[in-house]
Amino acid sequence: MANTPELQVVPKMFKEAQDFLPINGTDYIELYVGNAKQAAHFYKTAFGFQSLAYAGLETGLKDRESYVVVQDKIRLVLTSPLKGGTDIGRHIDMHGDGVKVVALWVDDARAAYRETIARGAESYLEPETISDNFGEIVRSGIYTYGETVHLFIERNNYDGIFLPGYKEWNTVYNPSSTGLKYVDHMVGNVELGEMNKWVDFYEKVMGFTQILSFDDKDISTEYTALMSKVMSNGNGRIKFPINEPAAGQKKSQVEEYLDFYGGSGVQHIAVATDDILFTVTELQNRGVEFLYVPTTYYDTLQERVGEIDEDIDSLKRLGILVDRDDEGYLLQIFTKPVEPRPTMFFEIIQRKGANSFGKGNFKALFEAIEREQAVRGTL
Ligand code: FE2
Repeated sequence: MANTPELQVVPKMFKEAQDFLPINGTDYIELYVGNAKQAAHFYKTAFGFQSLAYAGLETGLKDRESYVVVQDKIRLVLTSPLKGGTDIGRHIDMHGDGVKVVALWVDDARAAYRETIARGAESYLEPETISDNFGEIVRSGIYTYGETVHLFIERNNYDGIFLPGYKEWNTVYNPSSTGLKYVDHMVGNVELGEMNKWVDFYEKVMGFTQILSFDDKDISTEYTALMSKVMSNGNGRIKFPINEPAAGQKKSQVEEYLDFYGGSGVQHIAVATDDILFTVTELQNRGVEFLYVPTTYYDTLQERVGEIDEDIDSLKRLGILVDRDDEGYLLQIFTKPVEPRPTMFFEIIQRKGANSFGKGNFKALFEAIEREQAVRGTL
């Protein structure tokens, strides 16, 4: 049952004082996948990424191969093992294809490590300098929820194609961009009862601030419910909503994710465009599959969100959702999961003033996900 209480906005007290971890933006996202070569082809063909860099047998690696694809500020690293018995292979067996590394671009990777470890982070990678002919980078890393990690990447003294150890990946096949610009936010699904633990982690260990929260009264349908809190770093470039399942009549989509992923992990990557009509038209033409929203959603759209620039018939044809907050409105659409397990998916988002996350669409969206769950027999 839907209700619409006001967004709970938490004051950004002490935001500046707490910014002991300045972050310039998302550096890259690394996915461990079963077949990196084919995944790279998929992200190029379907999503309009371009070839950037390669590391593997040809660069002296013996146990794994990585392809890096890029679109504007978004870099995806797709990594597969080259033999049995590796930790990457174990990760894929446990979780399926999924996000392993959310790399954050910092000016001082040693300080980032020192500050977060001092506040209780679990070490993943002690600070190290790696170099090649194009300079050097410093990197370090800590664990976050599940087996997911944050790497801190310092690249002040590097002008190579990606990272030392990678060579430029030149291809004849280079599909055009679909207009994707940057990572807007990345959502983590965590185990029942663990949302506040990870909210505390981002607050205390990483100096983030909680900017929004939703409870099961905001986010529920007849069958499923979830709770969510949105964490942001000081300059707002990094936003991590954290979801936890809530009790519903049937299995929530977060529980389904946790079952199939084998624990906590990244649920969706939201990527921004400044022309969602163009982007979604291109993505659909290239084979990206989106969640279906019933056309009745559009019957009441105008009265719900008021005047918008876009033609409603075009939004309806493409299945794009709209929501308004105090500052403006946003347009968004969600893909189906992009791997065999019903786990990670993408969101395409265009912000026109709004800084929120589409709460007004949750009910329509979750009912769409439940229709998919029903088909999978996992509702
Ligand atoms: Fe989102």
